[in-house]
Amino acid sequence: MASEELIQGLNHALNREVSTFLRYMLQGASIKGAEWESVRQMYLSEVTDEVGHAQYLAGKIVMLGETPKLTPDLTPPPSDVRTMLKQDIAEEQVDVAGYMKLSSLAEQEGLVDLKMKMEEQAVDEAGHAEEMRRLLG
Ligand SMILES: [Fe+2]
Ligand SMILES: [Fe+2]
Repeated sequence: MASEELIQGLNHALNREVSTFLRYMLQGASIKGAEWESVRQMYLSEVTDEVGHAQYLAGKIVMLGETPKLTPDLTPPPSDVRTMLKQDIAEEQVDVAGYMKLSSLAEQEGLVDLKMKMEEQAVDEAGHAEEMRRLLG
């Protein structure tokens, strides 16, 4: 079965995803002004992606014989939209690195489906960071 390191890594990623979709939901709800409407729409649409990532991770933890433990970060997001975007670009990049690490752990443990899924989620997060960089200008 999966190592403690892999399970803990999956649970850490799950908490990052839950923290992210809560933050994006709040940011999508709170951004105002026509100039930032495309940023608001981007956050609203990315909530769905992050929920999907969290659902996959929670299900996989259970199928590896463990129980997901939720301790999301509920720090209020910044109100300045440019600061918001810069912080979220950095967080998305942390997620890319985290998923690549989980991918190599999964490969070492012979979990080929998990390895590939972690790479897919890394691609999604890299896409989110790129979209945010475009909106930041
Ligand atoms: Fe995600
Ligand atoms: Fe993301």
